[in-house]
Amino acid sequence: MTYLGIDIGTSGVKALLMDAEQTIISVGMAPLTVSRPHAGWCEQDPTDWIGGVRMALEKVRRDAPKAYSAVAGLGLSGHMHGATLLDKNGRVLRPCILWNDTRSHAEAQILDNNPAFRAITGNIAFPGFTAPKLAWVKDHEPSIFASVHKVLLPKDYVRLWLTGEYVSEMSDASGTSWLNVAERDWSNELLNACDLGREHMPNLIEGTDVSGVILRERASHLGLPTHVKVAGGAGDNAASAIGMGAINNGDAFLSLGTSGVLFAVNDVYSPNANSAVHAFCHAQPESWHQMGVTLSAADSLNWLATITGKTPAQLTQALPGQLSGPSDITFLPYLSGERTPHNDAKVRGVFAGLNHTSDTTALTRAVIEGVSFAFKDCLNALGAAGTRIHRATVVGGGSKSRYWLQTLATVLNIQLDVPQTGDFGAAFGAARLGFIAASKERVKGVCKKPTLMHSVEPINSLTTQYAEAQSLYRALYPAINNWQQN
Ligand code: XUL
Repeated sequence: MTYLGIDIGTSGVKALLMDAEQTIISVGMAPLTVSRPHAGWCEQDPTDWIGGVRMALEKVRRDAPKAYSAVAGLGLSGHMHGATLLDKNGRVLRPCILWNDTRSHAEAQILDNNPAFRAITGNIAFPGFTAPKLAWVKDHEPSIFASVHKVLLPKDYVRLWLTGEYVSEMSDASGTSWLNVAERDWSNELLNACDLGREHMPNLIEGTDVSGVILRERASHLGLPTHVKVAGGAGDNAASAIGMGAINNGDAFLSLGTSGVLFAVNDVYSPNANSAVHAFCHAQPESWHQMGVTLSAADSLNWLATITGKTPAQLTQALPGQLSGPSDITFLPYLSGERTPHNDAKVRGVFAGLNHTSDTTALTRAVIEGVSFAFKDCLNALGAAGTRIHRATVVGGGSKSRYWLQTLATVLNIQLDVPQTGDFGAAFGAARLGFIAASKERVKGVCKKPTLMHSVEPINSLTTQYAEAQSLYRALYPAINNWQQN
């Protein structure tokens, strides 16, 4: 038997095939693009996800035809919060409004002013979440709103295509602003507050449960066996946690990707919306997690690379081998606003303290520090929500830079564990969920932690200096916020 994981990422679809020993047999990728028709907007056409899934699966099938024909279980993962709107015939009504689209900040504020949202979901109604997007559609595209029959999250639209079932699972549903996260059920009160009802929502299951079986004609088209069971799956962050074996209370990981995520597992529901922390259901039953999200992590370095005509790797390779203390330039990485801790869609980035010697390397150092300080804000937000983190597994493109890892470990004052090179991201986590759902194996047995390559410790002699630099960084936000509003 083999198992498939499919991740609908913002920049591409990834399909991963593994066997029951969890050896990866083949990986297929298909690129995706976003469209940004207006400032702050970010959309994708759901039919592109289907095209991407076909292309990625075709590659896996070509590479390993025998193993592909033995697939027993499939798990889905995807970028969270996107609003995929369907009419009564299951047809897509408009392009999906994505997680990083900030057009609905005014609607989000209105929902967030209704105390029921924070009380029931445990989270701020962020502009990136799904409910404010529907409020925007209701205001700006009323005829589309009137035709909405179902609202699906991106990976759940792919599930509908594969199985014909309208189903979501707890981890992704937590990011809609309609889920009672403690009860693991839709909230009638919050849906009604958006002029929607339970009938507009898919059925809810746990990520480890079976949501349906692949449609016969779909299976024959894709060359998959009939009776492939499709697991609930997970939002991409919870799926990555499953891929990294972050399943026990206190397990933590830090993802240094396009956006930055600090994720910790909780065995009880522990919200603290005031610190802008996300408190969501995990992809396994009776388990929750907290998450701090900084919107432009590796993306800040990508931006600097673009404007300096270099690659991110060239920028980090020019840095010294060893950390010597904070830079005298402060960078606020708020290129597209910030979630944790500010929940501010309008704030923008800043370099402060430039002088005549501020060259590309100095700016690179400042960007790396600024993003590390943003993670420290996330760590503090999780701390305010009752979670102490002493060590975290670090993943994502940025973790290839030794300098960045040293800066992060010293700024956060925690140990960072770097796994051996391997593939344990969201697609792998999704494949594990497919495996669990189809085989009834136990989560603990399947979700082992990766082997570590090495760990990076904080440089104790520098932690006080970085704590002082972090105070300057913090002081800059209110100042710049005042200035940007004038
Ligand atoms: C999480 C979030 C992002 C997306 C992107 O709240 O918005 O991590 O899931 O993949």
